[in-house]
Amino acid sequence: MQRTLRLAHPRLVLSNCRPHCPSSLVAARRNHQSAPQSTQTQASASASSSTFNDNRDSQRTTHFGFQTVPEEAKESLVRNVFDSVASSYDLMNDAMSLGVHRLWKDEFVSRLKPGSRGPLRCIDVAGGTGDIALRILDFAREKYADRETSVDVVDINGEMLKEGYKRFKKTMYHNTPQIAFKEANAQAMPESEFPSNTYDVYTIAFGIRNCTSVPDVLREAYRVLKPGGTFACLEFSHVNNPLFRTVYDQYSFSVIPLLGTILAGDRASYQYLVESIRKFPPQPDFAKMIQDAGFSTGALHEGKGGAWIDLWDGIASIHTGVKL
Ligand SMILES: C[S@@+](CC[C@H](N)C(=O)[O-])C[C@H]1O[C@@H](n2cnc3c(N)ncnc32)[C@H](O)[C@@H]1O
Repeated sequence: MQRTLRLAHPRLVLSNCRPHCPSSLVAARRNHQSAPQSTQTQASASASSSTFNDNRDSQRTTHFGFQTVPEEAKESLVRNVFDSVASSYDLMNDAMSLGVHRLWKDEFVSRLKPGSRGPLRCIDVAGGTGDIALRILDFAREKYADRETSVDVVDINGEMLKEGYKRFKKTMYHNTPQIAFKEANAQAMPESEFPSNTYDVYTIAFGIRNCTSVPDVLREAYRVLKPGGTFACLEFSHVNNPLFRTVYDQYSFSVIPLLGTILAGDRASYQYLVESIRKFPPQPDFAKMIQDAGFSTGALHEGKGGAWIDLWDGIASIHTGVKL
């Protein structure tokens, strides 16, 4: 069933395609709360995994952090995480990364050079509180005096979008055609609202690893982009240097859940965030998935002429592709 809500602002359109199933949601939440605390040993073991969906026996399963869950449960579990963290999300991002996520997002957007070749129609999927959208609009305006580039922020979670909407209310973009917030699943965006061959740029930052099926997200990205349009993904990735990886694992598994407890009163959600990073495919495997979705990318290596660039030795990486 598709639900479409129009909130106070005409550009905030919430269309929700998930079936309503209160009992499975309750079960999923219970499952999430009772998730076992993971250890670093698990982190190392999981980091070598290059698959993202396990299909065993007749029941299709996937990862929710280090847990294996039925595919149909993951969406609710992820939704619970972001419902829980929405109000503290921006503060926690700064605290967990010591502000470094801002530098990565700046780098991500500046590489796209929005506005340099005229106004763009952009879609920022899993856009949450609008961090990338705001940077795209600011970059286009400040560097190229472009006030026509627009961004549709799409997210499965209404609570995250509400935080983004509140934030944009304080900006000059509020109440303009430059910004819209839409609730939808990245894996199946309704064709009526997101027609094929529509956007010049598709961005997704720290979102794709939370989705149940990465290939489905990539297929949708390909569909909504215009031919010649750019796909760009910023995501946590795999650290190359073993020594640095050890230090990073120590920090992630001890400090981040602790910060979650202190600042957001929610250890489990931040434990999930750390675990989900380890379960995401390594850079070359993800680049291959982007190619398999039909995108033209650089060669399957990092750096100049390659399909991705690493940030901070691979803590995060930027993958790009062009729709042919
Ligand atoms: C870590 S946040 C990233 C938010 C923002 N892009 C940023 O960089 O700050 C991940 C976002 O992905 C969204 N998300 C998870 N699964 C999704 C799905 N299947 N479709 C759309 N959004 C999804 C969550 O609701 C959440 O807002």
